[in-house]
Amino acid sequence: MRKKIVAGNWKMNLLKEEAQALTAELIGMIKDEESRPVNVILFPPFIYINALTQQANAETRISIGAQNCSDKLSGAYTGEVSAPMLASLGCKYVLVGHSERRSYYGETNQSCATKIDLALQNNISPIYCIGETLNERESGIHFDILKKQLEEGIFYLNKEDFSKCIIAYEPVWAIGTGKTASSDQAQEIHKFIRQTVAAKYGNETAENCSILYGGSCNDQNAKELFNLPDVDGGLIGGASLKSRSFTNIIKSLP
Ligand code: PGA
Repeated sequence: MRKKIVAGNWKMNLLKEEAQALTAELIGMIKDEESRPVNVILFPPFIYINALTQQANAETRISIGAQNCSDKLSGAYTGEVSAPMLASLGCKYVLVGHSERRSYYGETNQSCATKIDLALQNNISPIYCIGETLNERESGIHFDILKKQLEEGIFYLNKEDFSKCIIAYEPVWAIGTGKTASSDQAQEIHKFIRQTVAAKYGNETAENCSILYGGSCNDQNAKELFNLPDVDGGLIGGASLKSRSFTNIIKSLP
């Protein structure tokens, strides 16, 4: 059975007190959801990870991840944060290849591959983000783009390592725009991703791979999206910054 996951990507938002207060509220609200087999992961800015891993310990069923990691192991790389550093803080997940990092910071499928490697070497599960731009979709090349992102960014892994990874499909045109993919669009792509994984690693690995949807997912549309056969949860941006809406999204998982 594949893992159901709801992840909150806080991006560059919240001050320290706000981050801690939101985490405390979520811990309280999620307590009631004990029977639900859901993994909740928060992705705060780097500088809050240390405090939040202590706040959200094993009993709270919330894990803390990082929004990025360096593609270098250590050394003279001013401003970078390495995978071993994240592991030393108790970080269990890292986002790799978010479209904002690809478009604003020049990340490529190749640098994503290096980051995924470093994360896995440090027992951190990568959530590898892929997605097409509006232009790519309108030109009808979105399937090719997604396949390339998979092939170049993650398909170099062996089956065992691939099984430790999570995929997030985030159409760039849906991120932060209020324009969610329709159920048909989301299911079509998630099914395509699973079939592409199956062609590479076999049916069993593909069936066990969690594929999250991201892009203007909120407490109004999460239920419909999460009920799609190939959607295993969501990567939530804006709607993860309020405890009520994020908890409602968690409750939307079937
Ligand atoms: P959004 O962001 O939910 O605000 O669209 C999603 C993401 O970028 O992960």
